[in-house]
Amino acid sequence: MTTAPVTDPRFVDGAVNLDILQRRAYNHRWAEQPDGVIPLTAADPDFPAPPAVCEAIVEYARGGYFSYGPPEGLSEFRETVSDVVSRRKGISVPAARVLPIDSAARAMFLMAEVVLDPGDQAIIFDPVDFLFKRSVEAAGGVPVFCPVDPRTGEFDLDVLESLVTPRTRMVAVCNPHNPTGRVLRPEEIQGIAEIAARHDLWIMNDEIWSDIVYGDGGTSFVSMHALSPNLTAKTVTIYGFSKAFAMAGLRAAFVLLPDENTYRRFLAASHMPATAGGLSPIVQVAASAAFRDGWEWVEGFVHHLRRQRDYAQARLARFPGVECSPPEGTYVLFAGVGAFGISSEEIAGRMAEEAKVAVVPGTSAFFGPGGEGNVRICFATSREILCEGLDRIENWICHQKECV
Ligand SMILES: Cc1ncc(COP(=O)(O)O)c(C=O)c1O
Repeated sequence: MTTAPVTDPRFVDGAVNLDILQRRAYNHRWAEQPDGVIPLTAADPDFPAPPAVCEAIVEYARGGYFSYGPPEGLSEFRETVSDVVSRRKGISVPAARVLPIDSAARAMFLMAEVVLDPGDQAIIFDPVDFLFKRSVEAAGGVPVFCPVDPRTGEFDLDVLESLVTPRTRMVAVCNPHNPTGRVLRPEEIQGIAEIAARHDLWIMNDEIWSDIVYGDGGTSFVSMHALSPNLTAKTVTIYGFSKAFAMAGLRAAFVLLPDENTYRRFLAASHMPATAGGLSPIVQVAASAAFRDGWEWVEGFVHHLRRQRDYAQARLARFPGVECSPPEGTYVLFAGVGAFGISSEEIAGRMAEEAKVAVVPGTSAFFGPGGEGNVRICFATSREILCEGLDRIENWICHQKECV
């Protein structure tokens, strides 16, 4: 299989620095894998962050002071966020209701803690990223699963509403959806918001993937916050910089709160006013630079990712026993491997061991009960690495008796 040339120098094969990644990239990636294993695992790019981010960090560090920041965050960051989400996503939230926070993951745990009492139910998609289930459970809540088609990402609004009980307090949305890559349609967002409004539910609205959208087939991202304010009065939107700006280790994120009172509740529950945790000023400066000056980089990245997606999906769909559709957003592919007749955990384990390529198994721990029969493959790497990873998967599959 030949590899197509990549012209953007920021995303060519040589732009991936394995020496550094092998020392720094954890969370199932290069630094955690045995020698020689290619990790197509956690959704974290193999490319360095945009220059604007690196320069902002260097510039801040040159000042030499790393003093405490304001408990509610730097106004530079909050104003930049308010301005950028308004211009790019039609989200109208004043800077005073932007809460900087150290990761989208932390924001999810914070929200679950604020809105759920022990025993309260929260409706989450299934499959979906493990953080939804974990954050609900950490707050003593009970996750209730709304099935999502693992190939298309489609779900049924009537089914979702049928899951509402007197104990339901929250519905959690992942848009674009990890792991299926579906970009929710405006009518789906509207439908969820109407259900939430009818039953007086909070919406945990995770839009961390909203800048990795391919826009084909007319699917563009629409934010839940762009709906009418009476539908989003209890919508809390979470965004993190890990995915679009390749800065996962900086743990940069923010929460958009619908009103002053909710903002105060979140701020108090975060313990940031007591100096416990929060987003460090240097990271807020870096994230501000990303949002101000990083968009041309993101555009180039998405262009590269689109080609990676097309290449990987076309190959995977031809592998015997594998089902795979192209994601509309995100840089992960959720591939059906149920035909192999063994668990996804065993497939992932054997692929890592025998083929030296690591993927994320569709186990309940990673995605909920609906993830079984699938593996997730991240393609935010160079063409060379992706090609080698897919070659290894293909060879491994061809050696399985069931499929030859
Ligand atoms: C949907 C979703 N939400 C949240 C996160 C966590 O992001 P962060 O790195 O900001 O904690 C991820 C990471 O994969 C994700 O896919």
